[in-house]
Amino acid sequence: MSLLSSRGHSDGHTSNAAVCGVVADRDDVCRRAASAERLTFVPADFFVRVPDGGDCYLLKNLPHNWSPDSCRRILVSTREAMICTARARGAADPQPQLLVIEALMERTEDTVRAIFQMVICEEDARA
Ligand SMILES: C[S@@+](CC[C@H](N)C(=O)[O-])C[C@H]1O[C@@H](n2cnc3c(N)ncnc32)[C@H](O)[C@@H]1O
Repeated sequence: MSLLSSRGHSDGHTSNAAVCGVVADRDDVCRRAASAERLTFVPADFFVRVPDGGDCYLLKNLPHNWSPDSCRRILVSTREAMICTARARGAADPQPQLLVIEALMERTEDTVRAIFQMVICEEDARA
């Protein structure tokens, strides 16, 4: 999960150079990742708590790996972070947005492969 933020720029315009990213991922993933100037990695379990403070919450290639119930839990955690962010901001400030990017699937044999991948990513399936 990624959080994008361009706060600090009050002219109403955002350039790419102003955007900062936070990748919220598992602790072991963050420990192996290399932060960059405008990119940081924050350990998080998106079933428990998602960091607040983002302008945009980006779930890219993420929900398709999980069951409907797990997706609901991820969305609930994300919603809580967005509500927390909105409360900390003034009413006139832009409110956080949610962006979900997923590939559309045709009904082909690739669908079976995708469903198999979903099963192995599901909690406890790798234990
Ligand atoms: C399919 S990848 C998508 C990664 C990235 N968004 C992309 O588009 O390439 C799913 C990511 O979710 C992370 N992940 C799995 N379980 C997680 C959890 N409980 N909390 C946070 N991140 C988790 C994985 O480590 C992996 O990086």
